[in-house]
Amino acid sequence: MTNDRIYNFSAGPSMLPLEVLQKAGSEITNYNGSGMSVMEMSHRSKVFIKIHEETKADLRRLLKIPENYSILFLQGGATLQFAAVPMNLIKLTGKADYAITGNFANLAYKEAKKYGICNVAANTEDANHTYIPSQSELKLDSEASYFYYCANNTIYGTEWKYIPETGNVPLVCDMSSNIMSKPVDVSKYGIIFAGAQKNMAPAGVTVVIIRNDLLEREVMPYTPVMMNYKTLVEADSMHNTPPCYNIYILGLVLKWVDSLGGVEGMEKIKKERAKILYDYLDESKLFKSPVRPDCRSDMNVPFVTGSKELDDKFIAEASANGFANIAGHRKVGGMRASIYNAMPIEGVKALVEFMKDFETKNK
Ligand SMILES: Cc1ncc(COP(=O)(O)O)c(C=O)c1O
Repeated sequence: MTNDRIYNFSAGPSMLPLEVLQKAGSEITNYNGSGMSVMEMSHRSKVFIKIHEETKADLRRLLKIPENYSILFLQGGATLQFAAVPMNLIKLTGKADYAITGNFANLAYKEAKKYGICNVAANTEDANHTYIPSQSELKLDSEASYFYYCANNTIYGTEWKYIPETGNVPLVCDMSSNIMSKPVDVSKYGIIFAGAQKNMAPAGVTVVIIRNDLLEREVMPYTPVMMNYKTLVEADSMHNTPPCYNIYILGLVLKWVDSLGGVEGMEKIKKERAKILYDYLDESKLFKSPVRPDCRSDMNVPFVTGSKELDDKFIAEASANGFANIAGHRKVGGMRASIYNAMPIEGVKALVEFMKDFETKNK
């Protein structure tokens, strides 16, 4: 890797592309001849409005977001959307369906229960969230106001490989940890949201993509104005001061994605990157993936040795050798390599070489 950077396998906030950091660095005191940093500029200024418009347009083009969808850049993280979604959508029938496939889907479910009746359409806790339910396993309620799921389970390392079929019930999806890693048919969704700090930008901006007809639903009477999608869309994310600098970095990341072939290019690279690691995990006698093979995430790869002592030894040695943040989440233990868009293929190759060496020395 260039200069003194190390391979950072953090689940989020995560690595950003080096080119993006360098470009942002070169513009940090004077953006494009404006004489000021993007951090210092009014969000109503012509210069910033241009950044905002371009970022929205690039996101729309790269994800092929249809014209009848609005794009929001909000604060409050993905977690605020756990409440905003039911507050804006559940009143229609008072009910919603939730697929609980991991920690964040469970948090969203617990939040939504405050606002209506939430049916558990699936719960994979029976196998410690190591798989994704099939379509036929989903217990769907045709009267649900929406169906909620999390496309990629950051902690458990599972990923939905299909879009659930729910008839007329709109899909709401948390794509925080796999957005921009592959093409997605946005027209199949009511709402897509994602915290930016894995594949898009630093923490602090949350992308919400919403089908415009859903803006007409009656919201809960106590919905805060900052969580009312219609108000936010009408104000074009500027009901209050938006996270300007994060939107600017998101814009730079989108241009970087574009330069590598868009989300189609990202998909090709992520498949290659993940295959290197999974191929090794499948042949290793020491390291194992706990996830059912057909449900494995291409973004977050948990693995274990089966011995806590060896796991700890591996994490300590990996860290000392420049493989940062490789410890698994405390709910799962073991290790986890988060290999988002900005992780170079060389980073995964280097990690696998290091794992092979560790395996040889710890037979
Ligand atoms: C899939 C998923 N959803 C939601 C969240 C919570 O996001 P935030 O911290 O932006 O609220 C995370 C955080 O890691 C996540 O991975």
